[in-house]
Amino acid sequence: MRIAWGITGAGHLLKESVNILVELSKTHEVTILLSGAGEEVLKMYGLFETVKKLTGGKYRELVLEADQHASFPMTGRFSLGTYDILVVSPTTSNTIGKIVNGIADTLITNAVAQSGKGMVKTYIIPVDMESGDLQTVLPSKLELDTCQDCEICEAAAACPSNAITPGVEINLLKCEGCGACQVACSFGAVTGGKLITIHMRDIDIQNTAKLSEIEGINVLNHPSDLNII
Ligand SMILES: Cc1cc2nc3c(=O)[nH]c(=O)nc-3n(C[C@H](O)[C@H](O)[C@H](O)COP(=O)(O)O)c2cc1C
Repeated sequence: MRIAWGITGAGHLLKESVNILVELSKTHEVTILLSGAGEEVLKMYGLFETVKKLTGGKYRELVLEADQHASFPMTGRFSLGTYDILVVSPTTSNTIGKIVNGIADTLITNAVAQSGKGMVKTYIIPVDMESGDLQTVLPSKLELDTCQDCEICEAAAACPSNAITPGVEINLLKCEGCGACQVACSFGAVTGGKLITIHMRDIDIQNTAKLSEIEGINVLNHPSDLNII
């Protein structure tokens, strides 16, 4: 099967999505599409290289939003029968909000719109499914309560991307999620994979509910629900 897989800028369900993507890539041709935020967030969680390694060769491409400019020429493939299915996982509330309102101004929302026009079956795994609170995972974080503001910051010295301002914060746009800072700090002041609780907004839950009403779109709860492997 030839699959197009879109990743948006969500930390929630990201690792789970990449795990399924790795499995699918063993037996299927998978083209991976990253929204601008998807690319950034993959790097923050240290998963960009894992995804990049899955690509190389015809229809095993890594398509970056930044390379597709404003008209996303690559998404024309969805009208030409190139792909059997499109999967978007994880899907941010931002992308869901745009899809349900017919907006197609990002690589991923455009791919979904073109898939609808080309009758390509689309599977979407939203991060915001049910109202209430949700536990989600953070990338590397400098814990200021624990930070000793050392004269020489071991975490900053160990960072290959120069992403840490000692005693202040980690610049996540520079962070590549390698975790060297977590190992280097003797005081354990840098956490990685910390769980926090966030509240689901009603508008996002309502938008997710509207998704299932769009023809050609199938909404799944979790990437492991993709039983196409
Ligand atoms: C570390 C990090 C984690 C994020 N996780 C989520 C998330 O789980 N769900 C979500 O809706 N947005 C999340 N965001 C915010 C999105 O990346 C942001 O709304 C972005 O504009 C989405 O763009 P896209 O939908 O085109 O990918 C996160 C941002 C950061 C920096």
